[in-house]
Amino acid sequence: MGSFLARLRGKPRIQPTRVKAVWNECIIDHAEYFHKVILNVCARDEGIRDILRSRNKYTKSEDEIDFVLRLLAERIEIFFNGLITDEILGNSNELKQVCYQMGKQHASYATDTFKLVYWDEFTLAMIEVLEDSGSIGRDDLRAWQTLLHVVNENMQEGYFDARSEGSNRGV
Ligand code: HEM
Repeated sequence: MGSFLARLRGKPRIQPTRVKAVWNECIIDHAEYFHKVILNVCARDEGIRDILRSRNKYTKSEDEIDFVLRLLAERIEIFFNGLITDEILGNSNELKQVCYQMGKQHASYATDTFKLVYWDEFTLAMIEVLEDSGSIGRDDLRAWQTLLHVVNENMQEGYFDARSEGSNRGV
């Protein structure tokens, strides 16, 4: 009931137990999940694809690029593994802070500012890949969506703060 009311008010709450169940029972192979997310997001948006691929100037063949994208998927998995713990899911300030820092880190990944829409594309891809797996119920999907919403919102805060700090310094 609490989460239903929170949703009506437009501020859904993180449901740690449900999120952990989604992570452990619905997303069986985490690295494979994020690899699919990256492929999905690259297919959705050429701009994102160019950024992710151009980070690896020295990679030549498609196989090599795919290998590098799989390494990125593993790093995103490590990040989510860190988030999906009692200490972080149960502590909304801590969760927001970790995401904010990760967003700040993103400010150094490309010289041009990421389009606002890129963040939503990433979030949508993470939802779509899970939804397409066919192994998840609606309430579980909503719990995952709520977590991703918090991750997205706070990463963006960190990202845009870091970008404006950089531009104030003339970077
Ligand atoms: C909610 C959305 C996102 C999440 C959860 C996420 C997560 C991550 C994580 C955990 C890493 C690895 C950090 C490390 O190990 O140091 C990473 C790297 C990266 N992300 Fe994101 N990211 C998101 C959105 C974006 C967006 C919108 C872009 C824009 C294209 C982007 C571009 C990159 C790039 C270029 C890298 C570095 C790749 C490299 O080092 O080769 N990310 N991301």
